[in-house]
Amino acid sequence: MADNIGHPSGDHLMTERIFNQIAHRYDFLNRLLSLGLDQYWRKQAISFLPKSPNLKVLDIATGTADLALMMAQRHDHIERVVGVDIAKDMLQIGRRKVKEAGLCDKIHLDTGDALKLEFPNESFDAVTVAFGLRNMPNQAEAVREMRRVVKPGGRLIILEFSMPKHPIFRLIYLAYFRHILPVVGGLLSGHYQAYRYLNQSVEQFDSSVLNKMQAYPLSLGIATLYVSDSVA
Ligand SMILES: C[S@@+](CC[C@H](N)C(=O)[O-])C[C@H]1O[C@@H](n2cnc3c(N)ncnc32)[C@H](O)[C@@H]1O
Repeated sequence: MADNIGHPSGDHLMTERIFNQIAHRYDFLNRLLSLGLDQYWRKQAISFLPKSPNLKVLDIATGTADLALMMAQRHDHIERVVGVDIAKDMLQIGRRKVKEAGLCDKIHLDTGDALKLEFPNESFDAVTVAFGLRNMPNQAEAVREMRRVVKPGGRLIILEFSMPKHPIFRLIYLAYFRHILPVVGGLLSGHYQAYRYLNQSVEQFDSSVLNKMQAYPLSLGIATLYVSDSVA
């Protein structure tokens, strides 16, 4: 691990700084480095949104708002999406995209810490997070906060990178992930450490906090979707 990076999930300020630094290249590199799969995974995630009318959704670690935008664009039954993130530069790009999509009346983005959500209990019909949980220093607390703000009968949807189980595919994937991704990501973003951090945080992510949720592996296990209903 690079000396000045620290534990991937251990430092709030570091996470904020990394995402602020790469914000301008984040969407482009996501598409490139995942070969477009990231949007397919987000589509799978939002297919699990509850079908009830006038849905209010909270998207934590919303970043540049890709998931928030996709759900608001594809699901007419969504009344409002609130996105929160600690990195203001990611949100700034998200706000521009929301404005360009003409969705300012439906999507509201704000700075906020997923570990201390500023919403009353039982405020949302669904709470989502895509590729954000592993960056948080206390993932159990983040899930507890998600459960606190979701209404009884509502749903949690968590999309996160995972390690493929098939041994040969895992080897190929790890070679790409450890050696190619940080170099390409580093060169194109100008922040090599940020893309080293990406592969380290994925490899170190302990998904046991999501054990009780229904897990759906995607794309041979490169990503996994976790879904859980809150008890009505
Ligand atoms: C890999 S990005 C994912 C962004 C977006 N959800 C997506 O699908 O592209 C991770 C995001 O998590 C945010 N983040 C990390 N820790 C956070 C926390 N404690 N509270 C809110 N956001 C956080 C980062 O600032 C970053 O924007």
